[in-house]
Amino acid sequence: MERMNKYVLWNGKILDQDDKEVSVSYEDRGYQFGDGVYEVIRIYQGAIHLLDWHLDRLFYSMKEIDIVPPFTREQLIEQLRDVIKANQFQADGKLYIQVTRGEQPRDHLYEPNLQAVYYAIVTPFEKPVDMWENGVTVMLQEDIRWLRCDIKSLNLLPNVMARTTAQKNGYDEPLFYRDGIVRECGASNFFLVKDQALVTHPTDHHILGGITRKQVIRLAKELGIPVYEREIDLNELEKAHECFLTATPLEIVPITQIDEKKMNGGAFGPITKKLFRYYQEKIPEDLFSV
Ligand code: PDD
Repeated sequence: MERMNKYVLWNGKILDQDDKEVSVSYEDRGYQFGDGVYEVIRIYQGAIHLLDWHLDRLFYSMKEIDIVPPFTREQLIEQLRDVIKANQFQADGKLYIQVTRGEQPRDHLYEPNLQAVYYAIVTPFEKPVDMWENGVTVMLQEDIRWLRCDIKSLNLLPNVMARTTAQKNGYDEPLFYRDGIVRECGASNFFLVKDQALVTHPTDHHILGGITRKQVIRLAKELGIPVYEREIDLNELEKAHECFLTATPLEIVPITQIDEKKMNGGAFGPITKKLFRYYQEKIPEDLFSV
């Protein structure tokens, strides 16, 4: 069978993955400094989910670190279309887009107006059914990341270390706290349910403003579930009725345990389940067909 990701979008061109041009210079600033940004977007049966919100965030990330976008929004949309079409990709998948500042002799100081380097790739993705059925366990860890977590930057070393620590200790994911406040997980946002209402961290520089988080808030409001965007004190975890995390690949996943403490009897709570079902139901409304 033909690989479903044979073709990649490479600096504006659709190329075979094996093409010699598909390679990055050792002087690429993304390679040397993690000087770049990225997006992970879900594809449902060949159509792109919540594309506008993801593009808004990609342009925001580039602006915040002063990368000159190598494409206009319209050009990128066209090129994403092309890469999906070239692969005749009609399955469930993920679209990964990465933009680095570009290439120059190594120097912390970047040259202005460098030609940014970017690519996008589609990969098949199986729904995380096991996590949906069994939930995940999280390990509280101090947040040692920088204070611009709102930028979807390639610098993920603290997230990588924290995930590894969690796994080594028998947990699935880290749950970050800083200054006694629960922030987010290693690669997802955190929600708590208390008295039939949702509580989640406000969008500021302590967390990534997740697209799934935004969608869950929108859908909760449609369902008449109150949502409070405010800081969550570590002590509040004890009293939570349900907890879940949100991320593009995982959608909504129940958290069944935080450190030693079992949440919601180790199962999917009723509010989480209601949101999960509604989220699934609403997917077709936010798809962009190529
Ligand atoms: N991560 N917070 C962090 C730190 C994340 O890395 C992510 C996503 C999220 C959720 O954002 P969204 O709902 O837009 O996917 C929150 C992606 C999936 C990753 O790094 O692979």
